[in-house]
Amino acid sequence: MVGGRRLSGQVVAAGAKNSALPLIAASLLTEEACLLDRVPQIRDVSTMLRVVEALGCTARWEDEHVLWLKSGAYLAPQPPADLVREMRASVQVVGPLLGRCGAATITTPGGCAIGPRPINLHVQGLRAMGAKVEEDGAVIHFRADRLHGADILLDYPSVGATENLMMAACLADGRTFIRNAAREPEIVDLQSLLNQMGARVRGAGTDVVRVDGVSRLRGAHHVVIPDRIEVGTYLAAAAITRGDVTVTDVIPQHCEATLAKLAEMGAEVSRAESAVRVKAGWRLRGTTIRALPYPGFPTDLQPQLTSVACLAEGVSFVQEEVFASRFKHVEELVRMGADIRVEGRVAIVQGVDYLTGTTIHAPDLRAGAALVLAALAARGESIVEGAHHLDRGYENLPGKLAALGAEVRAFPAAGGHHTTRVTA
Ligand code: EPZ
Repeated sequence: MVGGRRLSGQVVAAGAKNSALPLIAASLLTEEACLLDRVPQIRDVSTMLRVVEALGCTARWEDEHVLWLKSGAYLAPQPPADLVREMRASVQVVGPLLGRCGAATITTPGGCAIGPRPINLHVQGLRAMGAKVEEDGAVIHFRADRLHGADILLDYPSVGATENLMMAACLADGRTFIRNAAREPEIVDLQSLLNQMGARVRGAGTDVVRVDGVSRLRGAHHVVIPDRIEVGTYLAAAAITRGDVTVTDVIPQHCEATLAKLAEMGAEVSRAESAVRVKAGWRLRGTTIRALPYPGFPTDLQPQLTSVACLAEGVSFVQEEVFASRFKHVEELVRMGADIRVEGRVAIVQGVDYLTGTTIHAPDLRAGAALVLAALAARGESIVEGAHHLDRGYENLPGKLAALGAEVRAFPAAGGHHTTRVTA
């Protein structure tokens, strides 16, 4: 909020959404109980729990962030179609189901509105491991008596495909290579849980993951890594409001691309053992932001940094190289007074002196986060509608922002959703 409240203070990072979701799916690989600590209380986690419970898994919160999961001897092969439509990450159960029971059926997934979300790389890899795949319209049936190891080269370092294939390969017969694998920290976190379960996975975090199949896996206890995207969102909030925010309980190494970009824009960035801090008591400079697979700049922070660029000095070029259409936040930012032009996969942002609060609509999770950040910096009051998208990936966002000095409240709205009101 330029001229309004500068956010300052400290927040604690929650566990990573994009790690917790595949880890919950991985618990299907064993009949024994798994305990996951530092699981964020967010809607996508609740959805994933409904998915695995529908398959025959028992899930129980042992504590505010501790999940106990135990899937029985028998698992149903198909998650409910409405849940798969609601959340693309549901497709991550296919690998474990195939590895454990030899059958999985899925309807083509839904999820955020950020472009087509095919699963061809998942299908190609599972076929290479011996799965028979039949596509019947929107429903895909996978069958395999026993998966066998394969040497798989991904056309694109897909996070979900890498995770699904890692999990399927754990119980396959023989050795699997996943080449051009995704290198995100969440892949490393999944390898860590799988190996604690008795799997033999190597190479996560590099572009070649190697898995030697074993006959069965056991239960394990694992602490989920911190959410680098949540961390980056709060750092961007400091940047856009010219504040001073420290996020604790983080792994700074996972945030390097974000920290480097904010420093390049002129923010003062500092790191401690398990904390990162951004101070920006002055106007930042525009720059070029290219959203790429890890370790490049994360696409899940591209909308948030686009908001920061709206108020920076000069022109910024925001190139989205991961998703076909991830500029749904631009239209709403322009309604607040931003000067942005989208040409294909590039948004050209001309910095302006201020944004004006108004009623804006969040089309998806990260676009919603970008709009909240813009509202925090805008003059006057904003109403962010569709704020229920934010609940998918941010634990207690209004509470954490208020603790940093923002005046933000969530209001119940029609249809069980709520809006978030941000006032100057
Ligand atoms: C994961 O999605 C994350 N979600 C996304 O975060 C993140 O944006 C994305 O990885 C990229 O980092 C979870 O981990 C639950 P991809 P995923 O497979 O696995 C294309 C958020 O906001 N592709 O790496 O679906 C695809 O269309 C969410 O937290 C294929 O073409 O991402 C996209 O253009 C949003 N065929 C690109 O690859 C496939 O079979 C990246 O997709 C699979 C993917």
